[in-house]
Formats: sequence, C-alpha cells, structure tokens
Amino acid sequence: MSIDYQETIPNNVNLGEDRRLQRALEKWQPGYLDWWRDSGPEQSSEMDVYLRTAISVEAGGWANYSHVRMPDYRWGIFLAPPEADRKINFGMHKGEPAWQEVPGEYRAELRRLIVTQGDTEPASVEQQRRLGLTCPSLYDLRNLFQVNVEEGRHLWAMVYLLHAYFGRDGREEAEEMLARHSGDPDKPRILGAFNEPTPEWLSFFMFTFFTDRDGKYQLAALAESGLDPLSRTCRFMLTEEAHHMFVGETGVDRIVKRTVELMREHKTDDVRKFGAIDLPTLQKYINFHYSISLDLFGQEISTNAANYFTMGLKGRYRETEIDDDHTLTEDAYEVPEIREGAIVAAQAPALTAINERLRNDYVEDCQRGVDKWNRTIRQAGVDFELKLPHRAFHREIGAFSGAHASPEGRIVDEGDWNSNEGLWLPSIEDKAYVDSLMGAVTTPGKFANWIAPPGKGVYGQPLDFDYVRFN
Ligand SMILES: [Fe+2]
Ligand SMILES: [Fe+2]
Repeated sequence: MSIDYQETIPNNVNLGEDRRLQRALEKWQPGYLDWWRDSGPEQSSEMDVYLRTAISVEAGGWANYSHVRMPDYRWGIFLAPPEADRKINFGMHKGEPAWQEVPGEYRAELRRLIVTQGDTEPASVEQQRRLGLTCPSLYDLRNLFQVNVEEGRHLWAMVYLLHAYFGRDGREEAEEMLARHSGDPDKPRILGAFNEPTPEWLSFFMFTFFTDRDGKYQLAALAESGLDPLSRTCRFMLTEEAHHMFVGETGVDRIVKRTVELMREHKTDDVRKFGAIDLPTLQKYINFHYSISLDLFGQEISTNAANYFTMGLKGRYRETEIDDDHTLTEDAYEVPEIREGAIVAAQAPALTAINERLRNDYVEDCQRGVDKWNRTIRQAGVDFELKLPHRAFHREIGAFSGAHASPEGRIVDEGDWNSNEGLWLPSIEDKAYVDSLMGAVTTPGKFANWIAPPGKGVYGQPLDFDYVRFN
C-alpha cells in the first residue's frame, strides 16, 4: 500500500475513516511542529536535505530519496503490514489470537511500555540538536538529519498508539512527551542515558552505535507483543533503526581508520598532534556509552519484566526462534551478582531474568561491531585492541550499582575509583580536546581531518554529492 503525502498526516492506518482519532492527532500536530522548531536540529530550517521518506511499508522499495526542505518534512504514521492470523507467541496467552485492542486488564502496563519507549525518541533529537553546526561533512550532516527526522517519526508512531488505544489518558501522555526535555532539571526525560548531552560527533557516533542499539533490542522485544498494533508499529520502526546503527558503526570505524592511518604515517601513538582522536580516548568513550546503555535494560532481576512476559506484552529477542516452551515457568537463567567483593554467577528464575537475557543479546551484538573496528586497526598493522568494558563497570542500575568496578571487572574501592576515573572515562581534558576538533565542513566531498571518508555515498550518490543545500 503506497502512502498519500497529500494528507495532513500521511498514514497507512486508514486515519481518514476515523474522524475522531484524526482530529485528535491533528490537534497534537502543531505542538509537535513547535517542539521540532524549538528543540529539533538548530539552524536547519533553511536547508534542503537529501532524505529518504517512507512511501510504502512493503519489504524492499519502501523508501524514496530526494532533497527535502527540512521544515517541509512530512512525518506520518506507518505500521508494518498485518500478518494473517497472528498469534500470541509466549506467556500465559500463548497460542491465542493476537489482540487488536488493548485488553482492559493490561492497559496500565501497555501504556507504561509505550510511554517509556516513546519518550526516548524526541529525547535523542534534543540531545543532538546542536550537532549540525559542527558537521564533519555534508554526508554526515545528511545522516544526522535522517536520524533526527526518523526519531521524530518514532515519536509519532508511539503517539498514534496512545491516541488510538488509550483514550483520554493516552492523549495526556502524548502531551507530556512534548513537555519533558532531555537534561531538564524539572522535567527530564524518563531514562538516564537520554538526559546525557551529545555535544560533539564522537559522542553522536557512540550514541548511535550503543544507545540506538538498545532501542533496537527494546523494539525487537516489543515487536513480539501480543498487542498487534504495537507489534506492527515496532516492526516498521526497526527498519529505520538499522540505519541509525549503521551511522554509528561506520562513524566510529571511519574515526578509527583515520587515527591508525596517521599513526602509521607519523610512526607515533600520539595522533593528537596531528588533529586526530587517539585510540585510548576512543576506548574511554566506548566505556562511557556502553555502560550507560547497559543500564537501559534495567535490573537483572525484575518482576515487571516477568509480568510483561507472562502477560504477553513484551517478549524476548526473536522469541519465536528460541527453542523452549515460551512460558519459562520452570526454567532458570544465569545472572551476575556481587558476593563478598567478587562477581559471581547466580541462578534466577528465567522469568525474572528477562532483562538480563535481552542485555546478553545486546552485548553480543555490540561485540560484533567492536570486532569490526579492531579489524580496521589490525589491517593498518597497529597493535591495539578496543574492548567492551566489563558489564560491572560504571553502572547505576542493577546488581553492580552499589559498587565500583574497573573496566576489567575487578571490584575496587572508592579511592581506587577516584584515582582511575580519568583513565577509564573521558576526562574534562579529553572532552575539551574532542570538542576542539569540531568545526563545520560543508564543502561537498570534503571531510574533517579526524575522520576518514565513508566507503560509499548515500543511495548510490558520489561522495561529493550536495547532500545538503543551504539556501
Ligand atoms: Fe527511534
Ligand atoms: Fe534510533
């Protein structure tokens, strides 16, 4: 089904046939556009950006690429096509038909899940709003804006569910999405990582690699939901999320590539002299972004997570491909805990360990990216390995939140932590150095000195294409 962009709110949910819902969303829309103007990408209103826009939700060929005036970008409501006779695949309702309406007894839980997911979407746009002023190239600027408009659309996706299925309190929650702001001391975003600033492009690439990847796993778990509209919404969001993680993975890889190039050329580890980001600094940024993203998965032992699973609201990553009974009432799962100053493996009921399992899937996926970066280092003949820190490192939620641990996973005391923090996490000087590299490069085909050009352009366009036009 193709999407009609002549409508006020482009959609594939037959919005025109539900006048009440359409009117409610049209009432929310101006507030959204105000939010985008005030909290979205700075100084983008005069730019034409080579963006992809969804024109259909069918697999393959859903996207159209063209220059779009940023304020004219059309956000819409798109769900993946329905699966005939879809069933609930886990929990106590396993085998029953998927719900097309919200079951009354699970209303509060579903609303909470949707609000928590929805809140992250505008948060990341707010975190990234000043990055356009210091883009390392037009290619990167275009990618930033592509991520931003899609996060905006993800907010639309969650607001649609709130409006369509939760009545008045859903509409109130939709208003609140625009009232909270990233880092606001009075009305912050719900989750910690989404209140951290993303002040420069190294942080942006780390964020899109590590934090957007948390998003992938949350969306994948919600895509298993027994609530069919939620599942379909998340399935379409996942197709867009893949690009955000691509931006992060290739962004860091290009930085690594440039760094090792300069290391070889000048036969030195100290590439700061040559305006690049040294590998130990990259490691510190990995330590930071990975650890705060691990927190997003929540407590290792969680009765909420167990309930969401048993109720059929939020499943596991690729639930249907897992070879077990999908009710987990008898199973155990390994979770870490600290006992007498050491990290040990304990057994917990698998149902309460759902968060930990999702975190494990995430860790594995992160490692795959880090392996790729290490390949780039090795190919340059440089002897250095980037590593994911131990999961106990720098945690604020769960079993490790009460203790300090080194990146290797050794429990350390307060004094040890304080004297090493600047070696393990970006120091004020590191941040100032990275900041000092940032300056807008807006000539087509030119790239900032600290990052290598990408392997190829967007959608077959050359690297020196005018991905952004300034009017
Ligand atoms: Fe998103
Ligand atoms: Fe994203």
